[in-house]
Amino acid sequence: MEWIRRAGDVGAERVEQVERDPDAGGSVRSASSRHTLGGTVETEAAILWQPHTDWSVEPIELDPPKEGEVLVKLAASGMCHSDEHLVTGDLIAPLPIVGGHEGAGVVEEVGPGVTGLAPGDHVVFGFIAACGQCPPCATGHSNLCDTGAELMSGHQMDGTVRHHARGQDVATLLCLGTFAPYTVVNQASCVKILDDIPLDRACLVGCGVTTGWGSSVYAADVRPGDNVAVIGIGGIGASAVQGARLAGAETIFAIDPVELKRTLAPSFGATHVAASVDEAFALIEQETWGHMCDKVICAMGVGSGAMMESILGITAKRGRVVVTNIHPALESSVTMNLMFLTLLEKQVVGSIFGSANIRSDIPKLLKLYRDGQLDLDSMITNTYKLGDVNQGYQDMRDGKNIRGVLIYDS
Ligand SMILES: NC(=O)c1ccc[n+]([C@@H]2O[C@H](COP(=O)([O-])OP(=O)(O)OC[C@H]3O[C@@H](n4cnc5c(N)ncnc54)[C@H](O)[C@@H]3O)[C@@H](O)[C@H]2O)c1
Ligand SMILES: [Zn+2]
Ligand SMILES: [Zn+2]
Repeated sequence: MEWIRRAGDVGAERVEQVERDPDAGGSVRSASSRHTLGGTVETEAAILWQPHTDWSVEPIELDPPKEGEVLVKLAASGMCHSDEHLVTGDLIAPLPIVGGHEGAGVVEEVGPGVTGLAPGDHVVFGFIAACGQCPPCATGHSNLCDTGAELMSGHQMDGTVRHHARGQDVATLLCLGTFAPYTVVNQASCVKILDDIPLDRACLVGCGVTTGWGSSVYAADVRPGDNVAVIGIGGIGASAVQGARLAGAETIFAIDPVELKRTLAPSFGATHVAASVDEAFALIEQETWGHMCDKVICAMGVGSGAMMESILGITAKRGRVVVTNIHPALESSVTMNLMFLTLLEKQVVGSIFGSANIRSDIPKLLKLYRDGQLDLDSMITNTYKLGDVNQGYQDMRDGKNIRGVLIYDS
C-alpha cells in the first residue's frame, strides 16, 4: 500500500490511497475500487454501558464503511462536557455507546458513493452532520440539519450499526464515537481541512471552539463596544470569550467559581472576572455605569433554570441571553420575570453549535488559528491516553481543564 498524489477534478491536488499488485508488475488499483476489500478493524474504544459508571476502555470491532461512509484514523479527540451528561443521565442516549464527538483524523478508507473525500484527507468532524439537502442546510443553517433528529439514535444514517463490542451492537455519540483510534462516520459529518493544521488542535473546532465562538459572534451577535458576560469558562466559555474579543466587545466579564478559570480567562480576552453571577452584578453595574451587559453567554457545565432570573439581572435593556449550556433533559422549570422581559425588551435564545455552519466556519476558524488570531494552543490544558479517559473527566469535574484532549498513537 502506498500514497500517491493526483490532480482532483476541481483543479486541487488530492491524495489517494492505492494498492500496487506486485504480481501484476505494480499496477495501480485506485481507492474507488478498494472499498469492497475492506475488512473489520479490530480496535478499542471508551464505552458507557450504564449511567453513573466509568467509561470502559475495551476492544471493539468496526465494520468497513458502507454507502456514503468513511473509515477515519483519529489523531485526537476533545473531551467536551456533553459526553459527561451521558454519564450523569442529564442527556438521554442509547446505551451502550462509544463516547466522543470532537474529533480530527485522517481518512483511511472510503465506502461507495463517497464524493469529495479520499484516503489521506485530513478531516474534522462537525458534531452535527450537514446533509446539504434539507431546508435548514439549504438556507445556511446546517447546525439545524434535519439529520440531527437521527444523530441521537446512535446508528449510522441507514439505521444500521458499524461498532460492536462483547458480541453486541454499540451506538456512537452523534454518529461519531471519537473516543476510539478508529471510527466509521458518514461523509456528511466530515469537513476536509488543510494538511498542515495540527490535528490535536483542529479537533477542538468540531464542537467546543466553534460552539463558543459562534455563541458570541452569531447567536449573541456581539458588536464593537458591547459589554458581554460569559458564564462558565470551560472549552465553550473560553471560546465564547475569544469570539466576543474578536467581535470587538469593549468589556468581557468572565464568571466562574473556579479560581484557575478566573486566572486563565484574561489570556482569552476577558477584561474582568467574578466568581458568581450574583457577585458579578455589582461589578457589572459599576463598570458599565448601570447599563449592564448587552450580551450574556451561558456556558456552565450544567445549565440551571433556577439561575435565569439572576442571569437576566445582569442583562441590559434590549440585551440578549444565549443559552448554549445544556440543561438536564427533565428540567422544565425556570425562574424568569416575564413582565420585565417585556418592559425591558430582553431576549433569551438557544444556540446549537454556536449557530455556525460546519462547512464554512470550521475552515474559517482554522484560518484564524493559523493567522494567530484564535488561540487553540492555550485551550488544551492537559492531554491523555484513551486509557486515562476517566481521569480526564475527573480533572474536568475538578476544574483543572479548559479542555482535556485524548491523543491517539500516530
Ligand atoms: N449548545 C451546544 O451546541 C453545546 C455544544 C457543546 C457543549 N455544550 C454545553 O455547554 C456547556 C459547557 O461545556 P464545556 O465543555 O465548556 O464544560 P466545562 O465543564 O469544560 O466548563 C464548564 C465551566 O462552568 C463552570 N461553572 C459551573 N457552575 C457554574 C456556575 N454556577 N456559574 C459559573 N460557572 C460555572 C465550571 O467551573 C467550568 O469551568 C455544557 O453544558 C455542554 O454540554 C453545548
Ligand atoms: Zn461538545
Ligand atoms: Zn441537512
